[in-house]
Amino acid sequence: MKQIKIGFLGCGNMGRSLIGGLIGNGYPPELLCGADPDPGQRAQLARLFNIAVFADNVEAVREAAVVVLAVKPQAVGPSLLEVADTLKQRGPLLMSIAAGVRLSTISKNTSDKLPIVRVMPNTPALIQAGAAALYANEHVSSEQRELAESIMRSVGIAVWLDNEAKLDAVTALSGSGPAYFFLVMEVIEKAAIKLGLDKEQARLLTLETALGAAKMAMESNNDPATLRQQVSSPGGTTEQALQVLLKGDIEPLFYAALQAANDRSVELADEFGKD
Ligand SMILES: NC(=O)c1ccc[n+]([C@@H]2O[C@H](COP(=O)([O-])OP(=O)(O)OC[C@H]3O[C@@H](n4cnc5c(N)ncnc54)[C@H](OP(=O)(O)O)[C@@H]3O)[C@@H](O)[C@H]2O)c1
Repeated sequence: MKQIKIGFLGCGNMGRSLIGGLIGNGYPPELLCGADPDPGQRAQLARLFNIAVFADNVEAVREAAVVVLAVKPQAVGPSLLEVADTLKQRGPLLMSIAAGVRLSTISKNTSDKLPIVRVMPNTPALIQAGAAALYANEHVSSEQRELAESIMRSVGIAVWLDNEAKLDAVTALSGSGPAYFFLVMEVIEKAAIKLGLDKEQARLLTLETALGAAKMAMESNNDPATLRQQVSSPGGTTEQALQVLLKGDIEPLFYAALQAANDRSVELADEFGKD
């Protein structure tokens, strides 16, 4: 990645993970800086990563070629208000990871001409296993797209979208997705305990099975449906279990769940977009 100055507004869980991921991948700490109102966050950041940290957002934006907006959605308006003039004068790439805050809301608080990339990350980014989707407005150059993608790839995988509305579907898939898999692990573990396994064994076997299945799916050239068929021989135990799940309408149930998350994402973005 081209080594330019990157300033972070908000250095909580996500900001810290991205900074840690960049430094872990060899990015020079002297090219990174952050701003956060919380003295505890600032002290932790300086101690962990030896980067410049400020209480004043303008300081983090003053020299940055990329500004990463990593505050909670409700803090997007106030934090942008503080730096709007500096952003307008300097025109850096603004990369927002705030869930559900649309480009129109961000540019309304800054400038119509600003290059902005909107990102939907997910929680496993905190352990460098994130899945993020990105959408750029028309002012973002190809070099800036590469930079934004490299920043997200420091904590996982990144895919580009051709339409901002698809970020609602991504929110329903990978944004909320970790919780769906946690739920599946939770209910499988409970079922195993009912079948007589003790809690610790049920937990360990459940988690390792989930990890193994995910790794197999990642490493295989086959799609999940083929992998499922390959492990369910006719008349066997797996086939019996899968028949129960499919008769229980698992597919329409998941479709309804993702649709509900997608719709809520649209509603929340509408709320954040109100004056
Ligand atoms: N965590 C995730 O897994 C995840 C997943 C997907 C998307 N996201 C998105 O990532 C963003 C950050 O989430 P997070 O979990 O990192 O939140 P967080 O841990 O609360 O971090 C946000 C930080 O921003 C600081 N802050 C508040 N107002 C500010 C301002 N005006 N200027 C600069 N900094 C300010 C907060 O300080 P105070 O605590 O003092 O308010 C806090 O330290 C959110 O918009 C969220 O939607 C997070």
